Amino acid sequence: MPEATSGRRPYMVGNWKMHKTVAEAREFLQELLSSLGDAGDDVDVGVCPPYIALAATVEELDGTGVGVFAQNMSAARDGAETGEVSAPMLLELGVRGVVLGHSERRRDQCETDRSLCEKVPAALDAGLEPILCVGESEEERDEGEMERRLRHQIQEGLQQVPAERLAEVTIAYEPVWAIGTGRSASPEQAQEAIAFLRALLGDRSSEAAERVRILYGGSIKPDNAADILGQPDVDGALVGGASTDASDFAELVAAAAG
Ligand code: PGA
Repeated sequence: MPEATSGRRPYMVGNWKMHKTVAEAREFLQELLSSLGDAGDDVDVGVCPPYIALAATVEELDGTGVGVFAQNMSAARDGAETGEVSAPMLLELGVRGVVLGHSERRRDQCETDRSLCEKVPAALDAGLEPILCVGESEEERDEGEMERRLRHQIQEGLQQVPAERLAEVTIAYEPVWAIGTGRSASPEQAQEAIAFLRALLGDRSSEAAERVRILYGGSIKPDNAADILGQPDVDGALVGGASTDASDFAELVAAAAG
């Protein structure tokens, strides 16, 4: 992994999506902790369980250094928002951060760039670490619209974040066509898009662009991880399917450790 040259610590985050009950989460975490061994010493590791398993996950991971992330939150601190969860509620549980703008939420739950414009600073202000997901669809890539799409997502999502706080946000580049399809981006495609995102951040702050961690996400598996994670601008991965298998996820963390 590039830490030696970039100074950025590798980062591997497992997004469980709507998988695992509380009992399953507890069992999985025991297995994960024993499979991780010392691979986690050189890598920041996080998991994103469904809301109902957050408290149990925080409890199981207490003292291990593995961070717990929610998969979404409301921009509001409280209010008449049936079915929503706020940053103070997550913080109270001991959650470290929150994934925002995952493409499944953009596609299925009407998540918009405009709402992310409020959610990202709301998470930061509350003391949560946001992981902002961006990525183009297959059609956008085919039509040469990738850069325009990524620029728009980054500009909106980070618009209200002051330059001196930009590096506190983690970005996940997740091309929509690679998520859950078994068809990951090539290492070159991941590098190209992530370098582009870093350059976009550089337009706001060159220091933030150097420090911000940008992850790749989309069908990452133990057999394709090393080449993607070896790219100079790729700082780690947001892992879906393979993160729900403890030994696969531990293998991916080991690959990030280099
Ligand atoms: P996948 O999901 O690894 O199953 O493709 C990635 C993600 O949605 O974050």
